[in-house]
Amino acid sequence: MSGSLLVDNIGELVTNGPGEDPLGIRRDAAVLVEDGRVAWVGAAAYAPAADRRIDAGGAAVLPGFVDSHAHLVFAGDRAAEFAARMAGQPYTGGGIRTTVGATRAATDDELRATVRRLRGEALRQGTTTMEIKSGYGLTVADEARSLRIAAETSTETTFLGAHVVPSEYADRPDDYVGLVCGPMLAAAAPYATWIDVFCERGAFDVDHARAILACGQAAGLGVRLHANQLGPGAGVQLGVELGAASVDHCTHLSDADVDALAGAHTTTVATLLPGAEFSTRSPYPDARRLLDAGVTVALATDCNPGSSYTSSMPFCVALAVREMRMTPAEAVWAATAGGARALRRDDIGVLTPGARADLVVLDAPSYLHLAYRPGVPLIRQVIRNGAPQ
Ligand code: NIG
Ligand code: FE
Repeated sequence: MSGSLLVDNIGELVTNGPGEDPLGIRRDAAVLVEDGRVAWVGAAAYAPAADRRIDAGGAAVLPGFVDSHAHLVFAGDRAAEFAARMAGQPYTGGGIRTTVGATRAATDDELRATVRRLRGEALRQGTTTMEIKSGYGLTVADEARSLRIAAETSTETTFLGAHVVPSEYADRPDDYVGLVCGPMLAAAAPYATWIDVFCERGAFDVDHARAILACGQAAGLGVRLHANQLGPGAGVQLGVELGAASVDHCTHLSDADVDALAGAHTTTVATLLPGAEFSTRSPYPDARRLLDAGVTVALATDCNPGSSYTSSMPFCVALAVREMRMTPAEAVWAATAGGARALRRDDIGVLTPGARADLVVLDAPSYLHLAYRPGVPLIRQVIRNGAPQ
């Protein structure tokens, strides 16, 4: 958007940069936006002139949420599966195949409408960057079109052809891995930034995951991984070994997993997805253990029709604080700067000069209210790329 914009009269500004620890908080602040970027941050009393002005009215402003893990390209829902779980059925991931059937049967426009609806929902809840995975097509054509549609909405797109082995390959998983590494990757890669594998009992074992991720890396994709969600396993350590940007879920961790994530040379983020534990009525990951060990933690929604049908980062922040013993500051950092780290981005998740101008104005005086007032629509205004939404 042309012309400068001053967001003024900010009572509490979360910058995730220099300032009061740990969120780089500045009080009575203002932010100048030019050409979609943060041009200046400082005391409101010294704010420069601008073409337009938004008066935050003393409210809190923070960087837009960075949701680094979402599965938005699908058709149908699995509300009945959710109801069965709430009546005591366990979550196994087996319902993924139900969504695969519905997704294959959907038109491009139906898939596109779902992506846009969920992306719009998330934006209204303060999410300014959202990663989008494929993984409910599981044929060459359906994975390619899932990513083509995802790429219309986000640059952070992830090829998850290795979500589960589809039923037509049930008795020959090696052949399916060959398909994923060969023609499916070739068709998907032009639309994808990342590759991901669901490394779990019942999905892909560590040898298959290693082979698929290596093929993705060779095709120029960055690595991320679903690991240690339903039980212990070798996924987290595989992710660290491969230099994955993020290992996601991290619900069942050994001491060796935590040590690997906390290693001095580790750049892999642990992304926690508390919406999945909420919606599958499972024990939450031990965020305190990770944070106390020095691991970089991100929070994301995992928005999908099976294990976590929420697009709300404020909900995830509230869960992380109440159920995972993260402090409100740790949770807000993980949902903004942490998500940016999980996507290897340094231009988002912060409000410092040069960063992308993605800002959220709260209907509250402090970021604390995100967890203190759960379920309340506290997002007053979203500015994305410098443009009020
Ligand atoms: O991240 N765990 C694997 N994939 C999704 C769930 C997908 C589904 O149940 O449809 C997840 O939780
Ligand atoms: Fe997921």
